[in-house]
Amino acid sequence: MDSFLPSPDCDTISKTYNGQIDSHLIQKTNEGYREILPNLPRGKGWMTEHLVQYQGVWLTPNFALKGLMWVQDHFKPRSTDIFLATFPKTGTTWLKALTFATVNRNRYGFADHPLLTTVPHGCLPFLEACPNDLDGFPSPRLLSTHIPYTLLPNSMTVNQSCRFVYICRDPKDVLVSKWLFMNKLRPKELAPISLEEAFELFCQGISHYGPYWDHVLGYWKASLETPEKVLFLKYEELKEEPSVVVKRLGEFLGHPFSLEEVSKGVVEEIVKLCSFENLSNLEVNKSSVLKLSTQIIIDNRHFFRKGKVGDGKSYLTDEMIKRINEITSEKLLGSGLVFGS
Ligand code: A3P
Repeated sequence: MDSFLPSPDCDTISKTYNGQIDSHLIQKTNEGYREILPNLPRGKGWMTEHLVQYQGVWLTPNFALKGLMWVQDHFKPRSTDIFLATFPKTGTTWLKALTFATVNRNRYGFADHPLLTTVPHGCLPFLEACPNDLDGFPSPRLLSTHIPYTLLPNSMTVNQSCRFVYICRDPKDVLVSKWLFMNKLRPKELAPISLEEAFELFCQGISHYGPYWDHVLGYWKASLETPEKVLFLKYEELKEEPSVVVKRLGEFLGHPFSLEEVSKGVVEEIVKLCSFENLSNLEVNKSSVLKLSTQIIIDNRHFFRKGKVGDGKSYLTDEMIKRINEITSEKLLGSGLVFGS
């Protein structure tokens, strides 16, 4: 495999935090972590026993909190960095595939493309998970993150010209997708979380990197203020007109599609390669796993469920739909951002 690709077995974070890599900086982050952890507010967890609230955001107490602290303390961005920023279950896997295929379209042929044998998460590293690996990466680095815009260090948002691509999705679909996904990952010794419980937690903002609406609004506002730095996409628009969005993506990332490429159907090839139908049926995505840390190992197939718009509504009661729509209208009021009904 091309050396540009990170190892799909991206478990540096666990080695890092288990102290096997001797680093003064990691020790400092670990010390800070141990100091603050006992005093953080706790809420019920979806995948872990509980979540903790740090700087207004709900995080898993180990992986996500340490990852955020590491990024805030020590990550060294480069002006050429491109970050795919998402709230979990809004289309991260799809966006990773599309971006990777768009940026690298002159490196790989469609017949033997890395995405045919590697889960999209293995093609593009997760910032919070592999801090040490990233220094050796050639520029421009393509990285993904779940960190809310407002919690990113100034070195990423103000002092450098890093670019961000953000994708959001209707909160009802996010909630249901997340509930089903997290229950699959929830350890056997913890009872599954009910939809009613997940709904309450989600509405209260208690979900990984939540509240969801604040996450969305952070990137939305940044995209209005600095559109050259933040491209804001919607899962629903991508579903409706994938070729149009992929062309916008190429333009934004500094890899515009030429007229010749358009007429040769390169955009459609990328859309087809990254489609739910194609990716979810590949052997690698049906039977392999993604190792995020020694504790977090995910079957690739869990990243592909239905890939439909509006599926969340078929799980929720009318009352739940009404309440979540009301919260959404209230939270987004005056922002200019809207979701469907
Ligand atoms: P559903 O659970 O509604 O099916 P994430 O990648 O952020 O974890 O989001 C997962 C959601 O995106 C899941 O939604 C999954 O099925 C959907 N998804 C994954 N790959 C996709 C693709 N290529 N096209 C469209 N949707 C996709």
